[in-house]
Amino acid sequence: MLDFSKFIKYSKPGPRYTSYPTALEFSDKFTYEEYLEKLKSQDKKRPLSLYFHLPFCRNACYFCGCNVVFTSKEDKMLRYIEYLKRELKILQNYVDTKREVLQLHFGGGTPTFFSASQLAEIIDEIKKTFPNFAKDAEISCEIDPRHINEEQMKVMSERGFNRVSFGVQDFDEKVQTAVHRIQPFEITKQAMDLARKYGMDSVNIDLIYGLPYQNLDTFKETLKKAISLNPDRFAVFNYAHVPWMKKTMRKIDETTLPRPDEKLSIMQYTIEYMTQNGYKMIGMDHFAKPDDELFKAIEKGELHRNFQGYTTKGGADLIGVGLTSIGEGVDYYAQNFKDMASYEEAIENGKLPFERGVVLNEDDKIRQYVIMELMSNFKLDIKRFEKKFDVNFKEYFSDALEALKEYEKEDLVSISDEKIECSDTGTLLIRNIAQPFDAYMKKYAKSDKTFSKTV
Ligand SMILES: C[S@@+](CC[C@H](N)C(=O)[O-])C[C@H]1O[C@@H](n2cnc3c(N)ncnc32)[C@H](O)[C@@H]1O
Ligand code: SF4
Repeated sequence: MLDFSKFIKYSKPGPRYTSYPTALEFSDKFTYEEYLEKLKSQDKKRPLSLYFHLPFCRNACYFCGCNVVFTSKEDKMLRYIEYLKRELKILQNYVDTKREVLQLHFGGGTPTFFSASQLAEIIDEIKKTFPNFAKDAEISCEIDPRHINEEQMKVMSERGFNRVSFGVQDFDEKVQTAVHRIQPFEITKQAMDLARKYGMDSVNIDLIYGLPYQNLDTFKETLKKAISLNPDRFAVFNYAHVPWMKKTMRKIDETTLPRPDEKLSIMQYTIEYMTQNGYKMIGMDHFAKPDDELFKAIEKGELHRNFQGYTTKGGADLIGVGLTSIGEGVDYYAQNFKDMASYEEAIENGKLPFERGVVLNEDDKIRQYVIMELMSNFKLDIKRFEKKFDVNFKEYFSDALEALKEYEKEDLVSISDEKIECSDTGTLLIRNIAQPFDAYMKKYAKSDKTFSKTV
């Protein structure tokens, strides 16, 4: 085990780069009219990827960083379905909905808060709007194992869902109590069994490290239990603690959070343990079996990072539907309203519920490529970059390369004329290593209440 105490200095705020520029740069400078133009001028030959945000949950898990609406009211949920349907109708005015759909993802909140018949209604409406799903389309749903029944799994499976992702986070009771999410192992196991029974091709489990009372020993137990369920993929997220943004996180006693060196040893152990058990690491926080298509995508240089994690379907335009959802085109990100009243009002006025976003300039595109390559593959092929952008890498990024010297000295990264490559330990600090390529970070240098800590 490495001595991580000397890496504590790298525990500093930084983005997770699910997008570049990050959501902090989204603004109303990207206007509604410009957004409509972007949609209308999309290349019709490019396939589509669809994201639906289903935001409802009953009780707050204290660690939750997602955009959630807490409710137990059925009428609110029925109302939301009506608005989703209306949003889909408006979308048809601007997007060629006959384009091929490669991906559909239900995220939340907890999509399975909707009953089986409600889920069926939503899926059927989507398929009516977008009739051209690819035969091998990836259709996936995030599921809270405490809220899934056989009828719901059946409805999803019959309608082509082939991937599910279960939120687990940690199996330790003390940790579960501290984060207000009691979820006995048996419940997760039953949910896994249901997914297998209904033929899901790929089952993922989400874990989080960095939660209250976790230490290396408790996490070892969690990993052992998680592996016994034999999922196809794992996400092992670094807990993003941002209590200034998320009120429920203030209920967490910060003195019970593991220290950065403990977190690094947890992650290092996780990588070793996963590898021994037949999984390989993908990007910053994912693991999959070596025959997973994600690895083929890496070989072809086609692995793409987006808001849902890592995907092989990088060449598609992403359309976000529902409250707070984010879409992505070749040169923009667009986000829907975050509050329900504004979301509904836009739709009532016959408009898409677009609130804000960002259009990428040439510099953004260059940096986006570099950052996403590093975040996905832990390396950058400099020659390939120079061919793609016709830019001298070392001149363009002289300041970033200077900033990386510190990491080179510690053998966390190596830089030659051909490539930049992280060492095994460097991969644990990939958010730090990507940061010098981010043109916007200087703005936030003095604030620790912007991003979560990288370690
Ligand atoms: C929308 S939730 C998953 C579905 C379902 N609501 C559940 O909790 O089981 C998406 C995932 O995001 C991760 N997550 C949520 N808040 C996080 C945070 N603050 N830091 C890191 N990961 C987080 C969790 O692993 C969670 O499973
Ligand atoms: S982690 Fe999942 S279940 Fe918990 S509050 Fe967030 S969205 Fe809801």
